[in-house]
Parts: sequence; C-alpha cells; structure tokens
Amino acid sequence: MTIKIRDLEGPLGCEVLGLDPTRLLTQDELSAVNEAFLRRLVIRFRGAPMTPQQLCNISRQFGELQPHIAKKYRLPDTPEVVLMINQDEQGNFDKVGAERGVGWHSDLAYDWCPAKATLLHAVAIPDRGGNTSFLNAYLAWETMPEDLKRRVDGKLAAFRNGGRLGLNQGITPDAKDRLPDVVHPVIRTHPESGKKAVYANPYHAIAILGMTRADSDALLDELFAWCIQKQFQWDQVWQVGDTIMWENRCAWHSGNLDYPLDQLRKFYRTTIRGTTTVDRAVAEKQLAEAVY
Ligand SMILES: [Fe+2]
Repeated sequence: MTIKIRDLEGPLGCEVLGLDPTRLLTQDELSAVNEAFLRRLVIRFRGAPMTPQQLCNISRQFGELQPHIAKKYRLPDTPEVVLMINQDEQGNFDKVGAERGVGWHSDLAYDWCPAKATLLHAVAIPDRGGNTSFLNAYLAWETMPEDLKRRVDGKLAAFRNGGRLGLNQGITPDAKDRLPDVVHPVIRTHPESGKKAVYANPYHAIAILGMTRADSDALLDELFAWCIQKQFQWDQVWQVGDTIMWENRCAWHSGNLDYPLDQLRKFYRTTIRGTTTVDRAVAEKQLAEAVY
C-alpha cells in the first residue's frame, strides 16, 4: 500500500497522502480508505492534482456516480463531473455560482435517493478564506439532551431544495417550477454503520410531518441551534490539489463566502449515489395528508 492515512484533529476528518491519480486504488487501499471514511466521515486526499477524468475514475471506486440536476454546470467531456466556479465565462463574479453550497446541508437531501458521498477537487482557490466547514451529525445526536432527542426521534420531515431558508428569502420557486417535496427521517440511521445521526438540515428541511407549522419551526430551530455548535465542526482549509470526499448521510457541510470575491475559486465535483431512507409509497401518502 503506497498511500498513508492519518486522522486529523477534531470531531471528524482523515488525511490520505500519496494518492496517485493516474491509477486506481488497490483493493487494500480501497478497504483502508473506506474504513477511514466510515469512521471519520471526511477524507482529504492532499497533494494530488487531477483531471476531471481521473476524479471520475477514483470516485467510481466508491460507488455509482449520480449526475447533477443542473445540466449547465456539467463538463461536456465528463458529464458526471460538475464545475463549481464563482465566475462566469467572461471572468466576472457569478453570485449564483458562488453561493451554491453556502449554508449547512447534506447533498441531494431534496431527492428521494440522496447522495452517499461527494468528492470535491480544488483547481483554483482564493489566497485566503473560502474554507469548507463540516459537522459530525452522529456526535450532534449522541450528545443531544434527552428531552430534545425524544421530541425529534422517529419524526419524518418534508424536504425541498432551499428549505425554510429559501422560503424566507423568497428564492424558492412557485410549486409548478420546482421539484416535488420529498420525505426523510429527521434522525436517520446510517445504512452501513447502523448509528443514528441528525439528518434534517437547515437548507432542505421544510417541516416536520404531523406538527403545526409553528411547532415544527420552533422544534427545527432548536434542533439546528444544537447541531451547529463549534464542538461538532471541522474546517477544511483548501490547498490546490486537495480532494475532499465527505459523508452526506451523517455529516453536514457548508461553503463560506468570506474570501476576496474577485479571486477565482474553481472545483470539480462528483456525487456518489446513496440509498433511499423511507418507503416512498407510504411517505408520499403521509406527505399528501400533511399540512405545512
Ligand atoms: Fe453541498
């Protein structure tokens, strides 16, 4: 095995050195990385610049790739790879592009089959700021006061891209223009580890089913305030050539806009397909009966 794996300091995170993007991981290396990923939720491959095709090849070792819904950001030669960039084709700052991924969330939680993992590879970064923050949602659950645990466990929630934040900012499109809402558990059991983690997140959760909107808002506010504590967080300070692979089933992440906005920030991204969290037919019925 030519790669080296070490835990990073903090509530999550692991670093892999010595990755060679021109070849695939060996079976031993893949097992070691998978073990580290399940245990530490975020893997950082450092010092390994790669092409979109190489990112695709390595990503595929962790599961089936899920193309992004926004076709305009897909790379033409490797459509499984999407460009995350803060400038338009003329090199001007692109607010919409820059704001993608800012706000605590996990990827594709607005889909019935949300993502298992996401890989993000740094091609160009600003000279300061623009870290990506991560949060251990197992830890948020495990350390939660019993009273709050009791009120959120076993509950289902409606999810939508933009969530309540989108509603508040008026950016959620009319019902006819957006994807139908989906349902996930507020507290999700991880399909591989069997452990519980907080799954409802501030950017996607709309309302807890079976509660009035006011009660649901109050409970979600309380839950999210608990989760976003610094003690559950770790920040990735990017270097060009870093690739981060993160958990979407038991970790949250958020981009930060605290960097000089006239500087280019460019990443390649792939998404690994996950599994469904509920019986869709049953959940659709509950969703249809819910008022929120
Ligand atoms: Fe994201």
